[in-house]
Amino acid sequence: MASLRISPIVSSFNNQSKRSCQSHRGKHDQSCSSLLFGKTFPNRVLNENGRLLTISKVAASEVVAKEESNEEKTHVAFTSVRQERWQGELQVEGEIPQWLNGTYLRNGPGVWHVGEYNLQHLFDGYATLVRLNFESGRLVMGHRQIESEAYKAAQKNQKVCFREFSDNGPKSDNFLDYMGDLAKLFSGASLTDNTMTGVVKLGDGRVLCLTETQKGSILIDPDTLDTLGKFEYTDNLGGLIQAAHPIVTDTEYITLLPDLINPGHQVVRMEPGTNERKLMGRVNCRGRPSPGWVHSFPVTENYVVVPEMPLRYCPQNLLKAEPTELYKFQWLPDSKAYMHVMCKATGKTVASVEVPPFVTFHFINAYEETDEDGRVTAVIADCCEHNADPAILPNLSLHNLRSLHGQDVLPDAKVGRFRIPIDGAQMGR
Ligand SMILES: [Fe+2]
Repeated sequence: MASLRISPIVSSFNNQSKRSCQSHRGKHDQSCSSLLFGKTFPNRVLNENGRLLTISKVAASEVVAKEESNEEKTHVAFTSVRQERWQGELQVEGEIPQWLNGTYLRNGPGVWHVGEYNLQHLFDGYATLVRLNFESGRLVMGHRQIESEAYKAAQKNQKVCFREFSDNGPKSDNFLDYMGDLAKLFSGASLTDNTMTGVVKLGDGRVLCLTETQKGSILIDPDTLDTLGKFEYTDNLGGLIQAAHPIVTDTEYITLLPDLINPGHQVVRMEPGTNERKLMGRVNCRGRPSPGWVHSFPVTENYVVVPEMPLRYCPQNLLKAEPTELYKFQWLPDSKAYMHVMCKATGKTVASVEVPPFVTFHFINAYEETDEDGRVTAVIADCCEHNADPAILPNLSLHNLRSLHGQDVLPDAKVGRFRIPIDGAQMGR
């Protein structure tokens, strides 16, 4: 493993140092994600004071930094980057293999304050894009803030202006303002476009940063990290939100569009070179009163798997001025948990089974189980599961994260496996 030394961007790197959600192989769940064209894992860096930092794995794929010092430990994770942009060549101790060439992009929250105002939750942070470029043994690193409308407005006005994950932005002073806020909410005008959950390369080469609002789809230049502008969908599929992590290959882009009115999800597909999503099918949720929150979902060769956990979207919480315990969500264990399987070719739901309650952000992988005749008998889906406990959401508050000095951020996280039979059975496991 190469040892890399850098100076001014320690907090940025640490905050972003999570692997791609599609390649999770252990318990990590914070923000995400990355676009990988090569890989390396630096283990030692210098902070701005010249102190040697060690980056160590503390929870499978999780990586954090701590100071190597006899002085009291100081947290450098979960602190804002100090510059809007930076780039420089990293000093390498050891040797990067000559064959390791390419670019590795990461996207995630990197700024948690606006002026003197401090945001409260990990997912409130304004998106910071990080680039590692490997070329002939050299490594150039850079980071840059994504210039979303939410970020630009916050910088200009020195206050939160849009509805972020936990922070609902400006409070209305009177009834007329409240009604105006409602109108902005229903139109999506007040929702954030802070694209801090993912970065994907489309089949046509465009690089897209995403979050759970559809307006939070922003194109960036992978070489300069420039924000190129909003990704304008040319279809009329509507809705305001989307799964944070689509499934992207060279030939297609598949994502879910939750339907908060008639609980379910539109499964949509977009071809390279277009901005038009087309409906593949619709999966109805079985629990009420709203769809289960879907941050990510898995696919197999022939199927799209739609999870429905009892942690559900809560439109009422969206309307509240103050953050609620579970932010924009609600935990309804009596509404039960389900897994649905939709056939890609027909758009039909071929399995819908009840499963034990679960809480997950990120699916790891999925595959089809076949019998000796080659017929598909079940879909197996693996995820990073949080002990069916929605406390994962408040546990990712910055206050909590910053209080954990060297402790496991997610002690209850585990790999969970679902087996979803495709034979009409009512129960999965
Ligand atoms: Fe994620």
